Amino acid sequence: MYYPQELIDQVQQNNDIVDVINEYIPLTKKGANYVCLCPFHQDSNPSLMVSRQKQLFKCFACGEGGNVITFLQKYDSKTFVEAVQTLAERAGIKLPENYSGEYSKENQDKKQRLIECNTEAARYFYALLRSSEGKKGFDYFKKRELSDETMKKFGLGFADINGNLVAHLKKQGFTDKEILDSGLGTHDERNGLRSKFWNRVMFPIKNQAGKVIGFGGRVLGDGEPKYLNSPETSIFNKSTNLYAFDLAKASRSQYFILCEGYMDVIALHQAGFNMAVASLGTAFTPGQANIIRRYAKDIYLSYDSDGPGVKAAIRAAKICREFNLSCKVINMSPYKDPDEFIKALGKEEYQKRIDEAKNAFIFEIGVLRKQYDPSDPDENTRYDMEVAALLSEMKDEVARTNYIKACAKEMGITESSLSSMVAKEASKNRRFAQTPVLKNGIHEKKDDSAVKPQQLMLTYLAEYPSIYPQIENIITPEDFTDATYREVAVKFFEDVRNGVASPARMVSMFEDEEIQNKVSDMFTSYLNGIEKKEEKENALVDIIYRLKANALEEMKNGTGALDPAVFMKKKKELMEIRRIKIQLPE
Ligand code: GTP
Ligand code: MN
Repeated sequence: MYYPQELIDQVQQNNDIVDVINEYIPLTKKGANYVCLCPFHQDSNPSLMVSRQKQLFKCFACGEGGNVITFLQKYDSKTFVEAVQTLAERAGIKLPENYSGEYSKENQDKKQRLIECNTEAARYFYALLRSSEGKKGFDYFKKRELSDETMKKFGLGFADINGNLVAHLKKQGFTDKEILDSGLGTHDERNGLRSKFWNRVMFPIKNQAGKVIGFGGRVLGDGEPKYLNSPETSIFNKSTNLYAFDLAKASRSQYFILCEGYMDVIALHQAGFNMAVASLGTAFTPGQANIIRRYAKDIYLSYDSDGPGVKAAIRAAKICREFNLSCKVINMSPYKDPDEFIKALGKEEYQKRIDEAKNAFIFEIGVLRKQYDPSDPDENTRYDMEVAALLSEMKDEVARTNYIKACAKEMGITESSLSSMVAKEASKNRRFAQTPVLKNGIHEKKDDSAVKPQQLMLTYLAEYPSIYPQIENIITPEDFTDATYREVAVKFFEDVRNGVASPARMVSMFEDEEIQNKVSDMFTSYLNGIEKKEEKENALVDIIYRLKANALEEMKNGTGALDPAVFMKKKKELMEIRRIKIQLPE
C-alpha cells in the first residue's frame, strides 16, 4: 500500500477543491456550485462544475471528473504521489518518507531509471545515425526524402550491427536488470544480455510529457519483421500512448490526424501537418481515444487505402463514436498511405483531401454497399437492414436521427422508411427498446438505462446523506448491478452510516483514471430542472423503483435459477415501492 487512507483524507480535508481549482482557473459561483471553462477539452461555455459540498469537479461536456487530487494529476500531469505531496505542502501537512507500492517513491524512481535508460539509448542511436557506421541509416532516411530538420525533430537514429548498445548502457551505470526492464535488451542462453535492436533505423517513442519510453525500429530494405517495436514495459503502455502525441498536442490544432505508421506521421509533420499521430503498431484503442478527446473533438483518419487499412479505419471510427469524437476518413487513393500521397501529390493536394474527408459512418456504409449486388432486390434489402442495424446501435438519439437523415439520402430511400427499419432493428436489441422515460423532468440520455438510476441514487445520497435511515431497509449495495457501482455503494453506505460520507474519498479508492471518472460520475449526475422539494421527493421514489426493478430483472436473467415464489414475492415488494414516501430535509 501507499500513503494510508487517513492521511489522504486529511490532505483532502485541508485542501478545499473550490479554493485549489480557483488558484488555477478563476471560478464563478452558480447556484450551490462553481463553474469555469473546462481545461480538459476545447471549451467555449463554462462546463466544468465544482462542488464544495461534494469536493468533486465534473465536466458535463467532456466527462472528465474527480477530486482535488485527481484535478492536479490531470491538470498538471502530476502522478498521484506528486499531487498528494503538492497538496500536503499547501496545507502544511507533513508526509512520511517511507512507503511502498505502485506510487511509492521506490517505484517511481525505478520508472524514472527506465526512462533515463531509454533516453540514453535514444542519444546513442541518434549519434550513431550521424556517424560513419550509421551512414546507411542516414542515407535510407534521405532516400525517403526526410530533411535534416525532420530527422532531428523526431530524434531519429540507427541501431548498429554489433548491438553495442548494451555495453554502452552498462558503462553509463545501468544494471542488467534495468536494461532488460527498459525493453532495450533481451536475454538469450548463449550470448546473455543482448540489444534487442540490430541494424535498424530507430524511431524513439515518447510519452505525453515528451520522455522516451520505447522505440520502433525499421529494417533498411525488405526483411522481416519490417518494424520491430519495444515490448510493453512499466513505462511503455501501447494502448494509452500515441506516436508523436507530444508534438501534436503542442500544435493546438482543433483536430488530430490519425495514421497507421511512423513514417506517415513524419511525412505529414514535414509537410506541415503537425497534428498527425499514429497508434503504436497496434489497432487504435479506447485509451487512445480517451486521450485525444481531451484536446480535440475531431479526428481525421488517414489509414492505408488497402483492405486491412479500410477495416482498421472502420474499427477506429467505432471507437471514436463511443467517445463522442467526430470522425472523418481521408481518401488517399490512388496512393497507399499519406507518406506516398504527399510524395506524389504534395501538401496542397493533401489539404484538399482533408477538406473533402467523408464522415466515417457514411464511409462505412459505402464500404458495406460494395458487398451487395445493386441489381438484386433481395441484396438491396439486406443492405438496407444492415445499415439500419448499425444505426440502431447508436446510443444518442439526436445523433441517430441526424444519421438516419443523412444515410437515407445516401441510400436513396425515404427517411421514414429507414427510420422504421431502425426501430425494428432496435426492438431486437432490448437495451434500446426498453429505455424508460423518466418523469419529473430529470434530464436523461437514452442510454444505459440500468446504470442511470444507480448513478442518480448515489448523487441524491451524496447531496442528502440524512435520508439514509429512510432507505437503508429498501436499498442494499447488492441492488447496484454494475460491479464498480456496487463496490462504491458498499463503502459509501458504510461511510454514510458512520457519518463520514465523502464522495471525494470514493474517487481515491481507485487508481485507474477511467474508473476515477466513472466514480465522479456516480455522484454528479445532472439533477436538471427540478427545484421543488416535493418534485425531488417524487423523483427519488421513481429512482428507487427503477433501481430495484433493474436489480430484480438482473436476478431473473442471472445465472442462478430464481425460485418463482421468491420472484413473485420480490415483484410484490417492488410494487409497494411506488407507495413509499421519502422526506428530504428542508
Ligand atoms: P513504410 O514501409 O516504412 O512506409 O511503412 P508503412 O508505415 O507504410 O508500413 P505499414 O503500413 O506496413 O505499417 C504501418 C505500421 O504498422 C508501422 O509503422 C508499424 O507500427 C506497424 N508494423 C508494420 N510492420 C510491422 C511488423 O512487422 N511488426 C510490427 N510489430 N509492427 C509492424
Ligand atoms: Mn509507407
